[in-house]
Amino acid sequence: MKEERKIAIVTGGASGIGRAIYNELVLRNVYVIIAYINMQLGKSLETELNLKGFNARFVLLDVTDFNSVEKVIYDIHTEFGRLDYLFNNAGIAMYGELYDMTIEDWREIIDINLWGVIHGTQIGITS
Ligand SMILES: NC(=O)c1ccc[n+]([C@@H]2O[C@H](COP(=O)([O-])OP(=O)(O)OC[C@H]3O[C@@H](n4cnc5c(N)ncnc54)[C@H](O)[C@@H]3O)[C@@H](O)[C@H]2O)c1
Repeated sequence: MKEERKIAIVTGGASGIGRAIYNELVLRNVYVIIAYINMQLGKSLETELNLKGFNARFVLLDVTDFNSVEKVIYDIHTEFGRLDYLFNNAGIAMYGELYDMTIEDWREIIDINLWGVIHGTQIGITS
């Protein structure tokens, strides 16, 4: 059955801009899925929001993992019959001198900030 409320997924939604986004969404009666990499923090945010009477759920997600992103989006679609918004917000920043960076640092940045967004976008538009 199709859910009446709008549904949103916010990746990396436990802090900063993601947190600001879901705080606005719940006030607009949107059911928010906080897709986040840390189980403990994600669960505690879900509890906090539900205790306040808002509609929110935490799902564990690492945006660098294509299959996990696909599963989260597929599961939400299947359960609610809709997905209205997908905020590809998860990301990292590194600070310091360029010559201190390693190739692994670059890979991590590209995996999260580029591939993480591509995963969500590609799966989101085809689902
Ligand atoms: N704050 C800024 O000035 C600014 C400027 C340009 C771009 N951005 C981008 O906006 C987004 C949000 O920025 P922010 O300032 O709120 O940062 P933030 O660090 O507070 O939030 C990003 C969240 O993404 C999570 N995350 C990291 N890797 C993840 C992964 N693999 N899977 C799932 N979650 C993961 C982090 O744990 C963090 O909670 C980021 O993508 C950032 O690169 C921010």
